[in-house]
Amino acid sequence: MGPFRRGALQVRTASKAYPIHLGEEPAADVFRGILERFANRKIAVITDSHLAGAYQDALHGAFADAGREMDLLILPAGERSKTRGVKEKIEDALLERKYDRGCLLIALGGGVVGDLVGFTAATYLRGVSFVQVPTSLLAMVDSSVGGKTGVDTPFGKNLVGAFWQPEAVYLSIDFLKTLPPAEFLQGFGEILKYGFIMSPSLDRRLAKDREAILGGDPAALLPVIRESLAIKRDVVGKDERETGGLRRTLNFGHTAGHAIELLSRYRLSHGLCVSIGMAIEADVSVRMGLLAPAARDTIKERLRSYGLPVSVPRAMGFPALYSAMLSDKKSGADGVKLTLLDRLGHCAKGPAKDYAIPVPQKILAEAFAGARK
Ligand SMILES: NC(=O)c1ccc[n+]([C@@H]2O[C@H](COP(=O)([O-])OP(=O)(O)OC[C@H]3O[C@@H](n4cnc5c(N)ncnc54)[C@H](O)[C@@H]3O)[C@@H](O)[C@H]2O)c1
Repeated sequence: MGPFRRGALQVRTASKAYPIHLGEEPAADVFRGILERFANRKIAVITDSHLAGAYQDALHGAFADAGREMDLLILPAGERSKTRGVKEKIEDALLERKYDRGCLLIALGGGVVGDLVGFTAATYLRGVSFVQVPTSLLAMVDSSVGGKTGVDTPFGKNLVGAFWQPEAVYLSIDFLKTLPPAEFLQGFGEILKYGFIMSPSLDRRLAKDREAILGGDPAALLPVIRESLAIKRDVVGKDERETGGLRRTLNFGHTAGHAIELLSRYRLSHGLCVSIGMAIEADVSVRMGLLAPAARDTIKERLRSYGLPVSVPRAMGFPALYSAMLSDKKSGADGVKLTLLDRLGHCAKGPAKDYAIPVPQKILAEAFAGARK
């Protein structure tokens, strides 16, 4: 029997339908599965230096078994690779090696590789196919699904990009065995977010099974990943390009989080920044009279129980954070707009009956001051 016997979740967006294969097979089997499915394509594997170290042998083995040569592009690991400059280098390498429109790119890595390779696939020869093989917890539950691709600029994160859906997502939690513990933890920022914005039942499960989940027990972790993915799948299925408003709910914690990430010059990881951002935006929800203080306290406690931060680094002044939030692409000319909660597991709708609620600068200043204690 081939890999991923457990079956797949189907994503159906306006532009494309594709499967998320979800399981716990070893890396070599994952690669074999992809080579079987895309037997006639010219394939380039694009990954980062950490993953190449851990999985090069498995890749070589799978390609050799299939009687194929392996073309591997290795990028320096880390957010600093998610740039227009690195994208250009990938494009030049593909052009030099004569990759045509029928090719397939494999994005093997975390969110950085996924976003970068996805964006490259979106524009290379006006668009080629790619598959996501997410290897970080964050990429598994969030960035590998939904088709948002892009790069960072000195003006902010993800400011240049495209919506471009993969052909498939091959997700095996076996990759988590080599993921550094701090990277594993930051993935829970996004998982907890799904509970906070949309799923009281996921939130309860995360509270009840915390030890087994944090211990990486597949019986506890796989259902949590599946439930997170099902939420993301449903949201992007209804609102692929964030035009109907629903996809905006996924932004909870991200406007404040992205500002912190930018000011840390990307030294603080995305998941940690989103965790602090969620603590702040939950507090803003309370200060706006939408959320009960007890719900905010539960959110902060849940984040802490997963080892995630809820305080803003002291060195970051409010004026700089505010200006970074204004430059976030989700803010408008009329100030900062946030996704806020009106109860645990539910997002509030604002005056325009959408999930982008204008927040006065004074309330933001108070919430940031409160998060410094
Ligand atoms: N497209 C989207 O919808 C979306 C959603 C959320 C986040 N993102 C983006 O995702 C990025 C963050 O993703 P990330 O946290 O995965 O970052 P990352 O890709 O930099 O991975 C984090 C670190 O873990 C290492 N790593 C990953 N998997 C590994 C494994 N199995 N074994 C050993 N090392 C491994 C990487 O080499 C890197 O050093 C950000 O750029 C963020 O903007 C995109």
